[in-house]
Amino acid sequence: MSTTQSQKPASLNKFEKIKAEKDGLDVKDELEKFAQIGWEAMEKSDLEHRLKWVGVFYRPVTPGKFMLRMRTPSGILSSDQLRVLAEIVQRYGTDGSADITTRQNIQLRGVRLEDIPDIFRRLDEVEMTSMQSGMDNVRNITGSPVAGIDGSELIDTRELVQKVQDMITNNGEGNYAFTNLPRKFNIAIEGGRDNSVHAEINDIAFVPAYKNGELGFNVLVGGFFSAKRCEGAIPLNAWVPPNDDVVDLCRAILSVFRDNGARANRQKSRLMWLIDELGMDKFRSMVEQEFGRTLEIAAEKDEIDWEKRDCIGVNKQKQPSLNYVGLHVPVGRLYAQDMFDLARLAEVYGSCEVRLTVEQNVIIPNILDDNLQDFLTEPLLEKFAISPQPLERALVSCTGSQFCNFALVETKNRASMLAKQLDAELEIPNPVRIHWTGCPNSCGQPQVADIGLMGTKVRKDGKMVEGVDLYMGGKVGKDAQLGTCVHKGIPCDELNTVLSRILIESFAAKPK
Ligand code: HEM
Ligand code: SF4
Repeated sequence: MSTTQSQKPASLNKFEKIKAEKDGLDVKDELEKFAQIGWEAMEKSDLEHRLKWVGVFYRPVTPGKFMLRMRTPSGILSSDQLRVLAEIVQRYGTDGSADITTRQNIQLRGVRLEDIPDIFRRLDEVEMTSMQSGMDNVRNITGSPVAGIDGSELIDTRELVQKVQDMITNNGEGNYAFTNLPRKFNIAIEGGRDNSVHAEINDIAFVPAYKNGELGFNVLVGGFFSAKRCEGAIPLNAWVPPNDDVVDLCRAILSVFRDNGARANRQKSRLMWLIDELGMDKFRSMVEQEFGRTLEIAAEKDEIDWEKRDCIGVNKQKQPSLNYVGLHVPVGRLYAQDMFDLARLAEVYGSCEVRLTVEQNVIIPNILDDNLQDFLTEPLLEKFAISPQPLERALVSCTGSQFCNFALVETKNRASMLAKQLDAELEIPNPVRIHWTGCPNSCGQPQVADIGLMGTKVRKDGKMVEGVDLYMGGKVGKDAQLGTCVHKGIPCDELNTVLSRILIESFAAKPK
């Protein structure tokens, strides 16, 4: 690996040292051994860090009950895959559950290390992988959740998303070429008009654009959030056709990042910091060199010109007589029975397929007109509504203190309860997107929300209590922009009053 920066070993951060000692991917061959000796006997750096390379997360809040982060390219799961995931969490009783994440992904809870070898065999049988899903790896690759079924779609990106994942993970086997990036990395490929993937918050985003009448992608780079800095992605000034060039360009950008990104300070190691350091022209020419051929300059404009859709409810597909139905999953939480039920619905009414959205919801595609009425009477739709109340509908939440050691507050339950209360108290004309995140790491993306709530500790009546910093102004879809913090340190028990006022003043809500 060549490095253009001065990187004396002494300047490497703690995580770089761990990676230099032993590649994270090496634990793949030790899983049987770990299962036998038990997690308590494992070396700390394997347990707490390297296991993340295969998607296994030690959770200090629930020691011994691991989180397993899958990869679900474009958020697409077959009913067989979903059933296997359901069986995995089912065996953990009340400890077992799953969360749909804001990267169209799924995380399983309560997993025991001794079961991992068996779990991985079963995932293999249904062609699923959790490879390279955590730490300094490329996260789940997102695409439009209605790719291939959306009447207004420009490019069906499903195959491309899968190919990029296969390149990065060596078809799920693990790929040492990309297991030691300076930091995590996000890629999104949008094929529709509504920026369903939040292109602006990805390290690489492909957005549809016409060049000389040909449809392809403009490329954006460097978008990221962190506790200290948030940046929207900026143009690479490149256009690629919707073919293997997309895969090659991802490989080229990842290689430039791997070989040149900063490895001293983890606060300054995401891709945008490298772009800042090199300047866009230099960065682009290094990428071009890796790409091995001339990069075409970007098309003048992209085709993102719609407001973002949430896909909830019954929607016509581009295929005649077929519909996709978006079900609202409150704060993305699923239990084994929910997953079995969803798999069954997809088999009985659809095409044995389920899709996940970055709003933490589920879509069942390919339901015939003639079967719709029966589908809509299914009991599961009482839990996962097709026309939820305006606040519940657009609610997003990170994990919070139930499972995450970084959390400063409990998020999911509080988010749900508060949305329910406010929906009951107020008449709200349109959905308002409220995003909860348990700490400044911003996994719940408060910066893209109409109202973002970031967990913090607040002093109230001489005591430290759970509170939030409040963000506003995030805009998604066309002309996406990031919101900013407008109010710091609101105790959670005052949130009903504060949010009620904001909803009335800024979102045309009226008391019922
Ligand atoms: C130093 C910064 C960060 C740390 C330490 C961190 C840590 C974590 C942890 C521990 C989890 C799993 C929690 C659980 O469910 O048990 C998680 C999940 C997640 N985080 Fe972060 N996070 C950071 C920054 C971010 C940022 C900036 C984003 C993007 C806005 C983000 C997006 C996500 C997402 C989408 C998930 C769900 C898993 C997935 O789909 O990949 N995180 N993060
Ligand atoms: S935002 Fe904080 S609390 Fe929420 S999942 Fe990320 S690290 Fe955990």
